[in-house]
Amino acid sequence: MTAFTVALVLVVAAAGLLRWRRPAWYWLAFGVTLAALRVLVRYRSVMDACGLTVPPARWRLALARATHRPVPEPRPPRIRRLRPTRTGLVLRLKLRPGQDVFDIAAASDRLRHSFSMFGVTSREVRSGVVEVRMTGYDVLKRVQMPAETETRAMRVPVALREDGSVHYRDYRAIPHALTLGATESGKSVYQRNLVAGLAPLDVALVGIDCKQGVELFPLARRFSALADSPDTAAELLDALVARMADVYRLIRTQQRITVDVPDAEIAADIWDLPDELRPTPVVVLVDEVAELALYASKEEERRRDRIITALVRLAQLGRAAGIYLEICGQRFGSELGKGITMLRAQLTGRTAHRLNDETSANMAFGDIAPDAVLAAIKIPAELRGLAIAGDASGGWHRIRAPHTSLRQAVNLCNRYADRTPDLPELAPFRSTTGTATELVPSAKASTATA
Ligand SMILES: Nc1ncnc2c1ncn2[C@@H]1O[C@H](COP(=O)(O)OP(=O)(O)O)[C@@H](O)[C@H]1O
Ligand SMILES: [Mg+2]
Repeated sequence: MTAFTVALVLVVAAAGLLRWRRPAWYWLAFGVTLAALRVLVRYRSVMDACGLTVPPARWRLALARATHRPVPEPRPPRIRRLRPTRTGLVLRLKLRPGQDVFDIAAASDRLRHSFSMFGVTSREVRSGVVEVRMTGYDVLKRVQMPAETETRAMRVPVALREDGSVHYRDYRAIPHALTLGATESGKSVYQRNLVAGLAPLDVALVGIDCKQGVELFPLARRFSALADSPDTAAELLDALVARMADVYRLIRTQQRITVDVPDAEIAADIWDLPDELRPTPVVVLVDEVAELALYASKEEERRRDRIITALVRLAQLGRAAGIYLEICGQRFGSELGKGITMLRAQLTGRTAHRLNDETSANMAFGDIAPDAVLAAIKIPAELRGLAIAGDASGGWHRIRAPHTSLRQAVNLCNRYADRTPDLPELAPFRSTTGTATELVPSAKASTATA
């Protein structure tokens, strides 16, 4: 064997090993070039085989006949751009007359295996131009968020989508959200990622965690208020409703001052207020909503009604006052009592992790995206953290959050502890930091170094 053959065998073996153990690295090292070549070489025949070509124009046929040239071939959509990405390829196609986006979408499964890619999705960018996103490997198997994400005010990256793009939680577009999932399906990890994303921003975090506070209390240093029992939760929610009334009062006075100002400049929510007057936005995280909605006695029922009423009011009016709800639960249906369906109608962002039954999936998507129900049911049990995310527009995506451990989240919250705003009305619910650090021993070390 020559040295060249030995080197070749080594490279192929290394590539094979990489592809098996670290598909993301394989993709960057070899996969992207091979895939781009494969797509370009096979393009015409694959499009032909998938029925995505159109017959040549009449004048071309006539010209060929007149000049005794060979008959021109059917033409596939023109490739406008082929862009390699961290996880796949993005192909921009200009459709031929008579083709539509649906043709490409319907052929995506055929395109996927013809180009030997892992997944293919398509969407229309503008009339006649389609973006086909292909992934080279299963990006959700081992989620790695890109180093650079576009974080804007109140818009945080939380997960990766199936097509390799980043899934953002945008509070200004979708103020309130509901996250459903069976136990151990990844709800708390998803919520932890949200906290991690929000921690560096100018936002007050409020947590309600009635499962003895195991999920949120370790993160206490970044939280402006925490509740670990339904009683405290009821008081905390009342304080938030009072805060909301104050913010509305502020907005109203602002409007009155600016009577002679054109309509467009009149403050309709906190984001229209001048920076120095704007109240801090608040994100309220509820881990396990059923703990708040269930009751055993008459007295607990009164408390439950008070909690749900406060939540419904926050959901209905909170957006303009910059109060956003993020509610987690295993189920969220009428069996939790009155007011629940009304609350659900306001929680327009929906995320469903693995669910136990179809009714739960219907609770998540039945009223907004019927085909997402099916996708939610099909989530396999072994891929914890995999979820379907949809919103009131009916669009949905398969997503998975990175596996942020509690320790990582605690460290991050401690690092940004000085960003925790002091809201006087929530001060009684501020947890003392001592208990938080005791819960996770390593947090002590990181506080010392921070
Ligand atoms: N996005 C994810 N990636 C990898 N593993 C995950 C992910 N989400 C959850 N898991 C695993 O599932 C376990 C349960 O998740 P958790 O969020 O606590 O579930 P839930 O709150 O729904 O009961 C976690 O300890 C973790 O090991
Ligand atoms: Mg949980």
